[in-house]
Amino acid sequence: MPNFTEKLSGFWHWYHDLYNNEWYIEAGLEKFEKKKLQSIELKDSSLKKFKKEIENCQKCSLGKTRTNFVFGVGNEKAELMFVGEAPGKDEDLQGIPFVGRAGQLLNRLLKHIHLNREDVYIANILKCRPPKNRDPLPEEVEKCLPYLHKQIELVNPKLLVALGKVAGQNLLKSQFSLSNLRKRIWQYQNIPLIVTFHPAYILRYPAMLDEALEDMKFIKKELESLHSTG
Ligand code: URA
Repeated sequence: MPNFTEKLSGFWHWYHDLYNNEWYIEAGLEKFEKKKLQSIELKDSSLKKFKKEIENCQKCSLGKTRTNFVFGVGNEKAELMFVGEAPGKDEDLQGIPFVGRAGQLLNRLLKHIHLNREDVYIANILKCRPPKNRDPLPEEVEKCLPYLHKQIELVNPKLLVALGKVAGQNLLKSQFSLSNLRKRIWQYQNIPLIVTFHPAYILRYPAMLDEALEDMKFIKKELESLHSTG
């Protein structure tokens, strides 16, 4: 077992690598990644049509403050779909979920179980950024959630992963704490659902990294067992 100092040193190397990578992305890779991600969206797919229908939404006040409507991104036939909370600053500017620091960490967590962004689909509970990244208000969630329900129906994943308490509680209509939501298989309309940490939470509390990596293994194992049961 590594001791605390070794763990901290390991985390620092990993974190440093992550941020170098982010710098590289800010320096231009981001455009390339955006292109690559869009290229796995199917031409004239029902998801694309749905995006067109809703992207000018003004159902709540976030419609007035957003820069971009952040619909969702990734493999439209993904077996694994992630749901986050709401776009942050970077996502609002680019119109793509999880492209900022939390997104870079999510990419790393995916790599841990040998997956890439191109293998999964990613969306959020809210499609527009709440000012100053405040928590989503109940009335915003109420207006926006039907969009996510429709996206889940169209992607039809084998397994859903809620990133953080807000996503888990809203998808499951539960008030359970994150620790009670984690490490279990829930059902969202007959689709198995696992709740794990939000990547932004891990950035704030790096000591949770080991547990987050354990959750990723749990996700991978469940996905594999869904394969073997058809
Ligand atoms: N946090 C989220 O929950 N979603 C994003 O898209 C980015 C950060």
